[in-house]
Amino acid sequence: MSQVPHPEFAQITEDALTRMEDAPQARLQAVLAIIIRHLHDAIREARVTEFEWEEGIRFLTRTGQTCDTHRQEFILLSDVLGVSMLVDALNHTGADGISESTVFGPFYAGKQPTIALGSSILKRPEEADALSIHGRVRASDGTPISGALVEVWQTAPNGLYDVQDEDQPAGHLRGSFETDGNGTYAFQTVVPVSYAIPNDGPVGELLKALGRHPNRPAHVHFMITAPGYRRLVTHLFIDGDPYLKSDAVFGVKSSLIVTPQPTGSGCLSIGYDFILSAEDPVAGLHGSQ
Ligand code: BEZ
Ligand code: FE
Repeated sequence: MSQVPHPEFAQITEDALTRMEDAPQARLQAVLAIIIRHLHDAIREARVTEFEWEEGIRFLTRTGQTCDTHRQEFILLSDVLGVSMLVDALNHTGADGISESTVFGPFYAGKQPTIALGSSILKRPEEADALSIHGRVRASDGTPISGALVEVWQTAPNGLYDVQDEDQPAGHLRGSFETDGNGTYAFQTVVPVSYAIPNDGPVGELLKALGRHPNRPAHVHFMITAPGYRRLVTHLFIDGDPYLKSDAVFGVKSSLIVTPQPTGSGCLSIGYDFILSAEDPVAGLHGSQ
């Protein structure tokens, strides 16, 4: 690489920005202008070589080629780079006692049939229910929210979601519930385990190259929706997990860490109330969560 860049080195950024001045979508233009400025600055600062740039393109190409109906390598990439949680932090302040949100992840598999409150989300008998999770969905003023849809999903004890494991029946360890008149939700499940995010693709190669592990602390996913309230996408994490401080996707917030309590019957129980934020009508119009 020559030490002295071409004289047009600085001008290229200005040209790329002015070229889209007439873009019909103002927001698209504004966001892309910021991205182009930062991307050009990053390339200047790192003095990226042609070979390195081609390597980057090859990596992104493999990332796209790894995606299919059940595998979303771009979500994983966003997650391990901390971008997903940065977007989350920007859009959810955690104010007013509203329950905190976290990363959505790539393993939501669509709405499951609604089952009765208190039911098990296990679809095969060889694993035993060992954990009961229950609580109420409420507004910030304490009012119970009845008819809220509570969707949950988690891995099996082998650390795999049903969609990753042909030995699991479809819908295993997934459930949808509607809260009752007191805002109550409740279900039975297995105790979640820590597990490795998919690391046999480009994102796994990247983690390895960066000397990072691929593990997430044990958790159960929740997505809670109710008319007039902002959708809540979150997890409950289990206290004591060795990966709470080094979650591969930066998703842990202390308010989401719970300690299961022993019950008389030898099972464990978690009680947790979710507080939803009233929907911002303007944000709602723009398709915000
Ligand atoms: C998950 O918890 O399901 C997950 C989140 C981010 C990346 C991979 C998996
Ligand atoms: Fe998960």
